[in-house]
Amino acid sequence: MSASPISPTKESRKPVTTRTLALKKQRGEPITMLTAYDYPTAMAVDRAGIDSILVGDSLGMVVLGYENTLPVTMEDMLHHCKAVARGASTALLIGDMPFMSFQVSIEQAVRNAGRFLQEAGMHAVKLEGGSERAGAVAAITGAGIPVMGHLGLTPQSVNALGGFAAQAKTVESAKKLVDDALILQDAGAFSLVLEAIPAQLAELVSKKLEIPTIGIGAGLGCDGQVLVTHDLLGLFDRFTPKFARQYTQLHEIIGEAFTSFRDDVEARAFPEDSHSVFMKPEVWDELLDALGE
Ligand code: KIV
Repeated sequence: MSASPISPTKESRKPVTTRTLALKKQRGEPITMLTAYDYPTAMAVDRAGIDSILVGDSLGMVVLGYENTLPVTMEDMLHHCKAVARGASTALLIGDMPFMSFQVSIEQAVRNAGRFLQEAGMHAVKLEGGSERAGAVAAITGAGIPVMGHLGLTPQSVNALGGFAAQAKTVESAKKLVDDALILQDAGAFSLVLEAIPAQLAELVSKKLEIPTIGIGAGLGCDGQVLVTHDLLGLFDRFTPKFARQYTQLHEIIGEAFTSFRDDVEARAFPEDSHSVFMKPEVWDELLDALGE
């Protein structure tokens, strides 16, 4: 008898936990994750039955308009995480630890990770980096906070990497990535994001690890897939990464709606009577009398 799928249906959705993701890996069921940064998007992602919502620091680029993710602060992250937590009811909520919120010391890393759960309603945190972050990952998980790792193209290291290029394409760098993945698993990470690495390598790492891998630009061999929602929706028109699939062109649709609004207002075609409230005629007449009109 085959096991029934864990993917939640609209009717009977149970909260997704880190254990759900582990079970999905064991059963060979693909894991789904999308980013969200606000209440309505979180609601839509949650209602679509997506397993996990990542409040990614990508919000720095796609929502706040920065060139990269480096300027994003803890306060920015907590603000958006709180909105997402209000909109989602079943997805596993993961808050992305921003640049310089976990690198200075292990104590700083644990304190900031704790804020995502205590103040912002997240269930877990994600942080970028390999073996150099093993101590922080171990300490945060030791505090009872699930940690997702992030290897490959780690955008907070854009300056060290020299840009947003694919990673781990040489034997040496690929071997380091495999080692880092195993170290993060040993440190207690419950899952790893693999970003912009060769598909064969991502598949190999996914097979080697007991914990689920979530790929973005890392091929089909990962245990799950994540996209930045603004890329999927065609809502960020500065660029679309090669690895993203645009499912719709929301930027154009929104632009058309805004232009229609402008045209309607300029033509005095909006608002119509149905959008307005009126006084009762007798009240209006009384007012005119009172004003001597
Ligand atoms: O910040 C983010 O949205 C991310 C995803 C691309 C995995 O880290």
